[in-house]
Amino acid sequence: MDHTPSDALVFFGATGDLAYKKVIPALQKMVQRGSLRVPVIGVAKAGWDLDQFRKRAKESLETHGGLDPAAFQKLCTLLRYVDGDYADAHTFLQLRAELGNSQHPAHYLAIAPKLFGLVVNQLRDSGCATGARVILEKPFGRSRATARELDDILHGVFDESHIFRIDHYLGKLAVQNLQVFRFSNTVLEPIWNRNFVDSVQITMAENFGINGRGAFYEEAGAIRDVMQNHLLQVLANLAMEPPPGTTDTESVRDEKAKVLKAIRPLHENDVVRGQYAGYTDESGVAPDSRVETFAAARLFINSWRWQGVPFYLRTGKKLPVTCTEIFVRFRQVPAIYSHQPPPGNHFRFRLNPEVTIAMGAIIRGPGKQLALDQVELLVSHEPTPEELDPYELLLADAMRGDASRFARQDYVDQAWRIMDPVLQSDVPPYPYEPGTWGPEEVNAIIDGRTWHNPKVNPSGQ
Ligand code: BG6
Repeated sequence: MDHTPSDALVFFGATGDLAYKKVIPALQKMVQRGSLRVPVIGVAKAGWDLDQFRKRAKESLETHGGLDPAAFQKLCTLLRYVDGDYADAHTFLQLRAELGNSQHPAHYLAIAPKLFGLVVNQLRDSGCATGARVILEKPFGRSRATARELDDILHGVFDESHIFRIDHYLGKLAVQNLQVFRFSNTVLEPIWNRNFVDSVQITMAENFGINGRGAFYEEAGAIRDVMQNHLLQVLANLAMEPPPGTTDTESVRDEKAKVLKAIRPLHENDVVRGQYAGYTDESGVAPDSRVETFAAARLFINSWRWQGVPFYLRTGKKLPVTCTEIFVRFRQVPAIYSHQPPPGNHFRFRLNPEVTIAMGAIIRGPGKQLALDQVELLVSHEPTPEELDPYELLLADAMRGDASRFARQDYVDQAWRIMDPVLQSDVPPYPYEPGTWGPEEVNAIIDGRTWHNPKVNPSGQ
């Protein structure tokens, strides 16, 4: 690994939605924390100048996360702007000139994946790629084949150690702390396997729609947008083997890649797609669109630890709540005190909107639940996880050459291998009403179990 600090941050898509909502607020936080002191060059084709870019940055902070006048002032001194078409070589010559003495820029591509190849080649031809790193937003490609093509292009210009594939779920400490929780508490390891676990559900629900991102969403759909990346990352953290004691950048990534390697490609019968009523009226969406805004999948990890345990993944837009929750259901104990066996135990990990871990039983009939208020388990090894923004963390990591929180080439390749067969499907999605838990057909893949639907209090709506 090359740990030379990046001496400039270039971000493509500077006038776009992601920049507005996530990147600019993350940059202000980096300035506040003192982890950003190098020029930040925004690149986009908007016909803007630097003043307009700064104005947009100010608006972004006022709307997302709050403007800190002192930090914003400092950020403004770092900001530069290059306006131009990515297909035009002149844009990249301007960029090279703007980079000045910078020898090790980090190029962050917060743009549509179909433009990655073009921009990477332009970076090479203009000399901007020399000594540089490249950071790419997800989804990385649209399928296994396109991701491989993209890898070929990237590897023609950058060494793998200089390529950073972002999945912002990897920057969420609540996701990473699943590993800490599993591997720091003795009581857990003996039960974390097929002998005790009945099934695992991972739900990422959002109560909003596509928020004006019709053109992007039409290219993606729920499977490419979040299941292939965010949900598989959560699954990998839950299911991976402990990395060797002397963990380096690769050991955790090795274990995650092994989890995906043990999963068979999805079959059409293991997937249910849905589309919320009204999706085709959204701007940028085709009137006859078959793109799914909801997807649920059943998959199995063919390993010593997990063979036979179903993992159910589910995500959707316009569901009743915004919440990401994992529900690990344990096997039923035998009936002793009555004819009915007691309810099974579960662990429930809520990753969003707040982070909680609960263990319990779901009791529907008579009986009482006992709250154990003295159970103390280690859940995190970072002091203030809630303050760290995933983009702040990931951009700072990439700029100092730490790839451990980024998706490695083989991992991404495996993720596409699992999803590929159902991406080519021609089956139309089932319709569902906004505010419901997706189409009823989703019950067909849960093998007689019930979906655990997270409940969020009104403030979390
Ligand atoms: C993004 C997806 O990657 O993640 C969005 O493109 C989704 O569709 C978002 O809404 C959710 O992220 P978070 O961090 O708000 O859970």
